[in-house]
Amino acid sequence: MQHYYFITGASRGIGKALVERALQEENTQVYGLSRSQSVEHSRYHHIAIDLSDIGYLQEKIDTLFPEVAHPRRIVLINNAGTLGDVSYVGDISPDSMATLINLNVTVPIMLVNQLLRAYGQVDTEKIVINVSSGAGKYPVDGWSGYCTSKAALDMFTQVAALEQDRRKETSGYYPTKFYALAPGVVDTDMQSVIRGASVRQFSTLDKFLKLKEHNELAGPAEVAAKFFYLINHTPAISGCATGCAEFLTSTCPSRKQLLHHFYTFYPASFSIIFSMPIASPLSSASPRRRPMAE
Ligand SMILES: NC(=O)c1ccc[n+]([C@@H]2O[C@H](COP(=O)([O-])OP(=O)(O)OC[C@H]3O[C@@H](n4cnc5c(N)ncnc54)[C@H](OP(=O)(O)O)[C@@H]3O)[C@@H](O)[C@H]2O)c1
Repeated sequence: MQHYYFITGASRGIGKALVERALQEENTQVYGLSRSQSVEHSRYHHIAIDLSDIGYLQEKIDTLFPEVAHPRRIVLINNAGTLGDVSYVGDISPDSMATLINLNVTVPIMLVNQLLRAYGQVDTEKIVINVSSGAGKYPVDGWSGYCTSKAALDMFTQVAALEQDRRKETSGYYPTKFYALAPGVVDTDMQSVIRGASVRQFSTLDKFLKLKEHNELAGPAEVAAKFFYLINHTPAISGCATGCAEFLTSTCPSRKQLLHHFYTFYPASFSIIFSMPIASPLSSASPRRRPMAE
């Protein structure tokens, strides 16, 4: 029985760490999507693609999710993302904004749609994780496109989860669990881009310079381990058959249970984005907690 992973942004940063973590598990087949390739492994299948090219993706999308033999688990992680131009509205290049919205919003939605078309009737555990950001929850000057894109991805995740919940009674349809996860501030190329921005277009630059200076960034491998903690524990979270939809209600015991698991084992910064604010239950749980994600 094989576990199938589809991970976008597989060549660097968090995505590469997720690919490597998936390959450490037994019986995995890992499909990575990005423009460049940096992983070689007998169970790794690279799909070289520029995901900001929506026309090309439309042509190829039918081929992205192959027929899978005896799947035990199918996971899609929409991780590829860009910060775009760090500039105030009025100074942003139109091309960069179009690329950002394509890569951060349109592509994840297209991939999820295709995944459900391909595997909706496959009776196995199916999980979608959309990589979000704390920046989808509050405004950051200079990051208008990025903040907007992550807020959109959070809402898409919630709608998709709600729909899966409603479809669970449909005979022959097997729902997918949905999560939007914010990984914290992670030491990747994206953070280098942030630190290289001009303070005139981004007033909180100093915060990011200090995080790096004080060695307070999480490592990509550490973040990947947290993702896999969630992936490997979703069945144990009782009463949450379809992922985040049920976590949205503050009374859901499973939501508490999941957060308890997370912050017992991984007390550093990490957040599961739902529509309910989750900052307060966590604030006293972890003295080692790092600053919220960007
Ligand atoms: N780092 C952080 O602190 C942080 C915090 C919160 C959220 N996040 C989120 O985490 C995710 C990963 O971020 P990261 O820091 O790991 O970024 P990163 O180091 O910049 O890596 C980005 C990945 O996306 C791929 N990618 C970029 N443009 C692409 C395109 N047009 N087509 C296909 N693939 C493309 C890159 O591969 P190629 O260049 O080879 O195509 C690379 O593998 C993003 O969604 C980001 O918003 C990061």
